[in-house]
Amino acid sequence: MADIVLIGATGGIGSRLIPMLIRRGHSVTGLLRKDEQARELKDAGATPAKGDLMKMSADDFSAIIKGADAVVFSAGAAGSGAERTSMIDGQGPVKLIEAARATGVKRIYLVSVFPDAGRDRDLGEGFEHYMSEKKKADAALAASGLDYVIVRPGTLKSEDSDGQVAAGRALTYGDVARGNVAAFIAELIDTPEIRQDIFELTNGDTPVAEAVAALRRN
Ligand SMILES: NC(=O)c1ccc[n+]([C@@H]2O[C@H](COP(=O)([O-])OP(=O)(O)OC[C@H]3O[C@@H](n4cnc5c(N)ncnc54)[C@H](OP(=O)(O)O)[C@@H]3O)[C@@H](O)[C@H]2O)c1
Repeated sequence: MADIVLIGATGGIGSRLIPMLIRRGHSVTGLLRKDEQARELKDAGATPAKGDLMKMSADDFSAIIKGADAVVFSAGAAGSGAERTSMIDGQGPVKLIEAARATGVKRIYLVSVFPDAGRDRDLGEGFEHYMSEKKKADAALAASGLDYVIVRPGTLKSEDSDGQVAAGRALTYGDVARGNVAAFIAELIDTPEIRQDIFELTNGDTPVAEAVAALRRN
């Protein structure tokens, strides 16, 4: 079926996405930055590729994604500081776009953030910076001409998928299981006619396949 590269393969979303993609018959290459993560990726059925987003150039991305049918970017700095947020959440997707152009890779799935994130909290400078870097990455991808899909999940919960979501171009804010984000992306990958679009995602009461089918424009 398809060759998929996961940037963020060792994270809460990526590690749940690998077995879903393998079950669907895809082959998966997963980025890791620590050698000790290789065994876990291989056991899950993925091929490890080494790289640190703090140091990777667009050429380094190209070497990893060359020949892929699609790339999923679900990495994140997870509040570890402004410089890491800029390099990982902001510059990571920008370098990936450059690499996709250079290698002819057409499809990119980007995990972004719900615009309403944190509305009910007193947002610090770090969070504002995070939101701004995520938005810059979304804008770069939306302007890229590639076959992108941007997924904006609500607050992530470390739960596996229960298979039920709410997905749409505008939703009210809510939580979403990391497993449901993974299941949604797996279904999107198998629905390539959905492209150049942006979706918000929370837990809900619609089966993932039905929710994705309803997002088709025609
Ligand atoms: N937290 C929320 O409520 C929330 C809400 C909406 C959207 N999001 C977005 O969801 C995504 C993260 O989801 P998640 O649950 O999968 O996160 P996660 O469990 O924190 O995983 C983050 C992934 O990024 C990788 N990463 C971090 N720094 C890296 C580096 N320098 N080089 C290579 N890889 C690196 C991690 O690798 P290691 O295993 O090596 O650390 C890991 O694979 C982010 O894009 C985040 O902005 C989060």
